[in-house]
Amino acid sequence: MKIGVIGAGTMGSGIAQAFAGTEGYSVVLCDINNEFAENGKQKIAKSLQGRVLKGKMEQSAADAVLNKITTGTKDLCTDCDLIIEVALEDINVKKQTFKELQEICRPDTIFATNTSSLSITEIGKGLDRPVVGMHFFNPAPVMKLVEVIAGLNTPDELAEKIKTIAEDLGKTPVQIKEGPGFVVNRILIPMINEAVGIYAEGLASAEDIDTAMKLGANHPMGPLALGDLIGLDIVLSIMEVLQRETGDPKYRPNPLLKKMVRGGKLGVKTGEGFYNYGK
Ligand code: CAA
Repeated sequence: MKIGVIGAGTMGSGIAQAFAGTEGYSVVLCDINNEFAENGKQKIAKSLQGRVLKGKMEQSAADAVLNKITTGTKDLCTDCDLIIEVALEDINVKKQTFKELQEICRPDTIFATNTSSLSITEIGKGLDRPVVGMHFFNPAPVMKLVEVIAGLNTPDELAEKIKTIAEDLGKTPVQIKEGPGFVVNRILIPMINEAVGIYAEGLASAEDIDTAMKLGANHPMGPLALGDLIGLDIVLSIMEVLQRETGDPKYRPNPLLKKMVRGGKLGVKTGEGFYNYGK
């Protein structure tokens, strides 16, 4: 199966790695220009090299995974069987991306989006085919869950097909009807926002907040470190979607979260968030 991944950032390259590492799948990793797409492939090369150095993978196997990934712009997706859109979390960008793709793709190419909280129904509005949510978790090659989200116009068979593909990748799919934040982000992101609030009130250090949740709730990483991993801009945009879509004040983003995003302290990807990651 030929998979088009639109967006070669952290999630896009992680998803491309997950597919390319599975027998029977090849990937076209796309971005707005060749350089961005190639940068995404370099991230995958680095991740695979780490596994080779740890003795978890043969160099030849790593090379074989990389050879299954071609890079470029979305014009290369004409003959893809499935496209996963991992572009900016902006509804207009996503809608426009699919609008352009439907002009060049085969009529039977499946359109899926990795949106973390936006409406699948809205993304699919006006297109010549239905859209389905296929939501991976960061780091995508490792995390076992895929949320399969059906918008109002997503046929059941399409959701079933995506569940089967997720299982092929060794993931466990859960099927969800569309609602803001789906399941994981509706629970997880307000928790991270609450941790930001505790930190902003000066009640505990970032390290102690994270230690508390690691040792007191058995989370693999603390909420502030996790916010840094996800990207604080993404955390903020999901809080804003929850707030806007529900009108419920319990989803108010903490002002410190907003300030950090405005100041460019987005977490791991910018080198600084609640922790410092160096250059
Ligand atoms: N890419 C590829 N592989 C990675 C990786 C990455 N970015 N990060 C870690 N790994 C691999 C490691 O190579 C290692 O593999 P092996 O066991 O084969 O050696 C394995 O994952 C475990 O990694 P580590 O030993 O380095 O560290 P760890 O045991 O502490 O695990 C972690 C790291 C998997 C990130 C773990 O801390 C964890 O599960 N954290 C929580 C992550 C989480 O909650 N993600 C969801 C965020 S929400 C989201 O993504 C949705 C959204 O829409 C915002």
